[in-house]
Amino acid sequence: MGKTIETDVKMVDLSTNIGGVVIKNPVMTASGTFGYGEEMSPYIDLSTFGAIIVKGISLKPRKGNPAPRIVETPSGLINAIGLQNVGLDAFVDEKLPLLKDCGSPVIVNIFGETIDEYCLLAEKLGHVDGIAGIELNISCPNVKKGGMEFGRQPEDAYRLVRAVKHSAKLPIITKLSPNVGDIREMASSVEEAGSDAVSLINTITAMSIDIEKRRPRLFNVIGGLSGPAIRPIAVRMVWEAAGAVDIPVIGIGGIMTYEDAIEFIIAGACAVQIGTANFIDPTIGLKVLKGIKTYLKSHSIQRLSDIIGCIRGQIYTLHKNSNL
Ligand SMILES: Cc1cc2nc3c(=O)[nH]c(=O)nc-3n(C[C@H](O)[C@H](O)[C@H](O)COP(=O)(O)O)c2cc1C
Repeated sequence: MGKTIETDVKMVDLSTNIGGVVIKNPVMTASGTFGYGEEMSPYIDLSTFGAIIVKGISLKPRKGNPAPRIVETPSGLINAIGLQNVGLDAFVDEKLPLLKDCGSPVIVNIFGETIDEYCLLAEKLGHVDGIAGIELNISCPNVKKGGMEFGRQPEDAYRLVRAVKHSAKLPIITKLSPNVGDIREMASSVEEAGSDAVSLINTITAMSIDIEKRRPRLFNVIGGLSGPAIRPIAVRMVWEAAGAVDIPVIGIGGIMTYEDAIEFIIAGACAVQIGTANFIDPTIGLKVLKGIKTYLKSHSIQRLSDIIGCIRGQIYTLHKNSNL
């Protein structure tokens, strides 16, 4: 019986396009929550994923912030890792060899402190074999603008994406920050700048205080909230962004189950990334993928693409027919 269901659900078409890259299924890992793949490979077959997005890479290695760097909250985490990473050269020499033959496309999440740093990274990665695309983390302080994040103002994001697009041969996914006034403006400006897709959301700025010590719980004082607490905000932002742009939208934020993933897809996401949930269950990607397959099959939906953003027309009709 179990075997029949497995064979049947294999017939569902799960492939999806994330900005020029067609991936076999919509389940991806979120940057910073799956290391460079090798850490998770004892627990999950790396070929499971539509794509693996690695921890954010900078030109030079970074140690990140001093501890404490992670705090648990009732329904999520606040992290202030400080973008610790091995740097571009060590990534290419030591981490990529395992990843590039793992059976899932590899997307490299990058960040810099200046536009030139982003461009140099993107250009160098364009000459490396085994990389399917670049995800631009624009939630980083721009040192030339006094530490103001690139992802806060549409004009700054536009300039950055345009410059990187010029330097990169690879498809670009711009990862949007939720810490902005209007996510639709941000999505539109990076689309106009040439981004091939957008992913959202990154973490939401947050803080936690130890009342006994009367001190912030994080060394950095402020960190980024992730996990189930942010999911409804992320779904709303994916819905808004998908309504504002024509490029693919990738949904991220608090996905713990296949139902959560389907919610993002119905809101307009063509793929999803799983983040914090990997820390609780490193096999979560496979469970979410199997759940999506079974959901489609049990609702007689043959292609994932049939439900991407499917409520948009419905809501329009509902509103048109209401007397409100
Ligand atoms: C410990 C940790 C490290 C992260 N590091 C990165 C990073 O290097 N680059 C990036 O773009 N996002 C990073 N993120 C953000 C996640 O990729 C994701 O956007 C966010 O956690 C929301 O998804 P989630 O609720 O499923 O975790 C990090 C998140 C966590 C929890």
